[in-house]
This record gives sequence, C-alpha cells and structure tokens, in this order.
Amino acid sequence: MENLVDQNLFSGVYEGKKVFLTGHTGFKGSWMMAWLEAMGAEVCGYSLEAPTKPNHLELLNLKGKSVIGDIRDIPLLEKTMTDFRPEVVFHMAAQPLVRLSYDEPHETFETNVMGSLNIYEASRKCSSVKTIVTITTDKVYDNKEWVWGYRETDRLGGKDPYSASKAAMEIMTSSYRNSFFHLDRYGKDHQVLMGVVRAGNVIGGGDWAKDRLIPDIIKASLEGNPVSIRSPHSVRPWQHVLEPLSGYLLLGQKLIEGEKSFADAFNFGPLVQEEMTVQHVLEELKNHWDKIDYKIEVPEDMPHEAGLLKLDCTKASVQLDWSPVWTTQEGLGKTIDWYKSYYESNSTVTMEDLKIYIANAKERNKSWA
Ligand SMILES: NC(=O)c1ccc[n+]([C@@H]2O[C@H](COP(=O)([O-])OP(=O)(O)OC[C@H]3O[C@@H](n4cnc5c(N)ncnc54)[C@H](O)[C@@H]3O)[C@@H](O)[C@H]2O)c1
Repeated sequence: MENLVDQNLFSGVYEGKKVFLTGHTGFKGSWMMAWLEAMGAEVCGYSLEAPTKPNHLELLNLKGKSVIGDIRDIPLLEKTMTDFRPEVVFHMAAQPLVRLSYDEPHETFETNVMGSLNIYEASRKCSSVKTIVTITTDKVYDNKEWVWGYRETDRLGGKDPYSASKAAMEIMTSSYRNSFFHLDRYGKDHQVLMGVVRAGNVIGGGDWAKDRLIPDIIKASLEGNPVSIRSPHSVRPWQHVLEPLSGYLLLGQKLIEGEKSFADAFNFGPLVQEEMTVQHVLEELKNHWDKIDYKIEVPEDMPHEAGLLKLDCTKASVQLDWSPVWTTQEGLGKTIDWYKSYYESNSTVTMEDLKIYIANAKERNKSWA
C-alpha cells in the first residue's frame, strides 16, 4: 500500500483518524478506502458483499477492517460502530441505480432513507462521532431539464424512485441537523457537524456496475459487440472518481477542524464547459481504445431518465476553494487506461492513478494538496 502520510494532504487531518466508511465494497467506496488508508487513517468499512465480480476492493488488498453488514441491520450496525468508535463517518452505502430502483422501489427507499437514518441514530449513540459526510447525488434536484446548473439552494425532487429516495434522505438529514445536531448548540449540547455532498456521473477504473455507461462499454467491447446506447444526447456532469472524493475529503477536513459554516450541502462536478453528451464521451473513449464501438438504440418502453442535468459548483469553488484537477478528457483517458491495464496486463493501476492525481493537484495549485 502506498504511503502518502508525509505529503500532508488535507492538512494531515486524516492521519491516525478513525473513519467509518459505508459502501466500501462498492466503486466509489473502494477508491475512498484506498485513499484514506494511504493518508494513514484507520478505516472500518461496513457494507454488503461486493456488488460485482470482479470487484475493485478485492483487487486492492487493503489492510483496513471490513465488516460485511446491512445498514438496515440496526443491532449489527450499532455494535460495529460502538466497538470501533470512529471520529468520522463517510456514508456512501446505497442502492445507487436508477433502473434498478424501478424494479426494487421498496428496497431502494428502505436502504437509502431508512438505512441512512440508522447511520445517524447509530452516530447519536456513539459519542466518538464528530463528523458525518453523507454522499448523495446530482439527481436530488427537481429536474426541470433546463440549461442552467442546479445550485444547492434549488428545490429537491425526483421523478424516479432512486432520485426521490436520495432527495427524501436529504430532507431527513436536514431534520437531523436541525433537531439533534443544530449548529447553534454545537460544542455545547453536541459535538457533531454534518455535511452532504452531491456529485454527478462518476467514472474511473474498477466500476463493474450494471447500466452504467463505461462498464457497459467495457463489457460489450470485450465481447466484441458494439455497445447499445439508449440516450446519446443526454448531458451529464462526468468526472473521474478522484474528483468528488477530493471534494468529500476537503469538506470532511473543514468539519473535522470544527468549521461549522461548512455543515451544509455542496455540489461537486466538472467545470460547465466540460460537460459532455453521451455520444461525445463515446467518441473520446474510442480515441483511447480502438476496441470500443457503439450503436444507438432507444427502446420504446424506456423508463424516464433525465436528459439534461448540470450542476453549479460555485459554492464549492468559492467557499471550499475546490475545483477539479483533471479535465473530463483526462479523466476519460485515465479511466480507459485503467481497464486496458487490467484486461491486457492483469494489473490494477489505482494507486498509480492516485499518485498522478495528487501530483497534478500540486502542480495545478489545489489548496488541499
Ligand atoms: N457512481 C456514480 O456515478 C454516482 C453518482 C452519484 C452518486 N453516487 C452515490 O455514491 C455512492 C456510492 O455509489 P457507487 O457508485 O460506489 O455504487 P456501488 O453500487 O458500486 O456501491 C454501493 C455500495 O453500497 C453498499 N450497499 C448497498 N446496499 C447496502 C445496504 N443495505 N447495507 C450496506 N451496504 C449496502 C454496497 O455493498 C456497495 O458497497 C452512493 O450513495 C450513490 O448513490 C454515485
């Protein structure tokens, strides 16, 4: 495992810190666990079994504690948290797929809303917890399919069960911030600051989830079939997984440092001029790997998915001094190179990507680096 401790990233706040990370067996969680460990954090992951095979976490061979459990299993969740006594909680576990949410609405709401509530209740009972960062999505906004990016103050909504479950979870989170972790009573009646982070379509190596563009392309390419594309003109805020993670870690740093004005929601996404249609992404990917091919097929009974979705990240830029390190093209290139290394050389280049990302962040004067 790489050692990034001497680099003093995020002012070194994660060194020796006990971090409870839900969703660590998933795509974003496995990258997060690797980064936290490399900065010297003591991590306890808590999730269901890895959702895919192959699985990124298994490829990484991390040394942190890994508990396989359900966030709906209150006794196991509370026992795990109380035994570990974390100071920081990053809550990523979720049913994260829009299409699956149409087939499994009950499970989606139960996991995303009640599972999150269980995390907050367990945190209330575990006096060591001081910082909670909850991972939601750009899809929490009441999407009007307009050309402007959504701001943190825009109305929440959600036409599909996944989006609605995440928006409902945010309203519930806000009630916890008002009822139990009120900012006016911080440092007197309680010690907890809660942040919420909303990011867009995340790409990067190690994702094998169903119904996501890049994993679908990789699978189809390896089988020698052109991938079938449902929404070629959809615009999404694509970004490499390390981009939102640097934002989550930076917000976490501010909360750990007790800066209560940051106990709020933040968007993390690419620069406005970097947002791309699905077809544009495919063309970029083809430039990197000639195996990639696609065909456009829009099914007649396709369930609703947002066509135009943009995020306004001014708040993260002004208040947190956060902005992406890589362009979308660079992120797409790194993503395809990751899969090429995995399938053609049997090697997992996650830590190499992380080192390059940090080196680029330093060269490009990012405050956290
Ligand atoms: N990947 C994206 O493009 C994207 C975009 C926006 C938001 N998000 C959010 O980021 C977070 C992580 O998503 P991901 O892409 O890594 O998804 P993923 O499917 O790869 O991982 C989900 C993780 O949650 C765990 N999990 C699911 N249900 C659980 C339960 N009941 N109890 C315990 N663990 C459970 C899984 O085991 C897995 O570890 C989610 O909250 C998701 O909504 C992801």
